[in-house]
Amino acid sequence: MVFLTGIRIAGTGRYVPPLTADNNDFAAFLDTNDEWIRSRTGIVTRHISDGEPSWHMGLEASRQALEAAGIAPEQLGLIIDTTITPDYSTPATACVIQRELGAVNAMAFDVNSACTGFVCGLDMAARYLATDPALSYVLVVSNENLSRVVDYTDRSSCILFGDGAGACVLERRQGLYSAYMAADGTGASSLYANGNRRTCRFATGEHTYPEDTDPRGDFLRQDGKAVYRFATEAMPRAVQQVLDQAGLGTEDIDLLIPHQANLRIIETAAKKLKFPMDKIMVNLEKYGNTSSASIPIALDEAVRSGRLRRGQRVCLVGFGAGLTLGAVLFEY
Ligand code: COA
Repeated sequence: MVFLTGIRIAGTGRYVPPLTADNNDFAAFLDTNDEWIRSRTGIVTRHISDGEPSWHMGLEASRQALEAAGIAPEQLGLIIDTTITPDYSTPATACVIQRELGAVNAMAFDVNSACTGFVCGLDMAARYLATDPALSYVLVVSNENLSRVVDYTDRSSCILFGDGAGACVLERRQGLYSAYMAADGTGASSLYANGNRRTCRFATGEHTYPEDTDPRGDFLRQDGKAVYRFATEAMPRAVQQVLDQAGLGTEDIDLLIPHQANLRIIETAAKKLKFPMDKIMVNLEKYGNTSSASIPIALDEAVRSGRLRRGQRVCLVGFGAGLTLGAVLFEY
């Protein structure tokens, strides 16, 4: 889908909790080592929440994004929060952030499309902005507390993930906007976490959780090879799709910001696209995979470091549980 009405990023922000865990910290309690993790993933360290709620990380990133945009919270008409690790099943994290910001004029809801969440939320924001002339500013914020769902006895998955949040304020602008979103639910069992699995059978008078529930069954599970195969096929496909829709080629992208899951996945996708690595934003060595927060964290770093400048074309591409896939292309 190519829109005539595009988006402008008015401001970005990011937040990561202060506690860090490097590869050697994992080697202290797991049969793993720094060399294996670096060579298979590119990850060196990650930030881990020490009990800080998911919404609070999102709030900190949102405050920065509002400040960078130079707007007051009251000017927001919509808040879209993306997370697979909300603090509550309900209310939506976006509502808690709305309250804390004092964004009294904003509608607020959450989106869950896993690591594709930010791209999906941004695309929803673009569509709201394109169709509702009364809407001036939308906040898209992604906050993830993956340490709550990661199984720290599973060495093949726990070393991948970190916690953090990223946010951006969007406004309407005439210009390029190309988006591609897809899902393949047949791959749902390749990557899942079952946080709300336990049932309280209120209707039958069983008000307690079953004693025999294995709490580890609630943790994140993945078929690493299946996800790897999907990611390396899907990412180039999504980028090519947004380029084709816009009538552009890979040389027209100034900066590609992919989901920061694994350096090998990014390198393989770049090779397939024949896209130079020096035009790809990579910061996963510092944060690991922060699910939907990874792209807005990288976006904020690119903006604040001057790597992404006004007028340049940026492509964001995400993939993750679902399985889901999404890419957007627009001018920063
Ligand atoms: N440290 C040391 N050894 C490890 C290890 C670790 N942290 N994790 C797994 N191993 C071992 C395995 O047990 C296996 O040992 P074996 O050969 O004796 O059985 C060996 O390393 C190879 O395991 P394998 O699963 O084949 O590794 P891999 O090369 O496929 O890499 C992943 C594993 C998880 C890094 C890779 O599959 C991957 O990145 N997948 C995508 C995951 C992802 O990005 N998920 C989120 C998407 S949003």
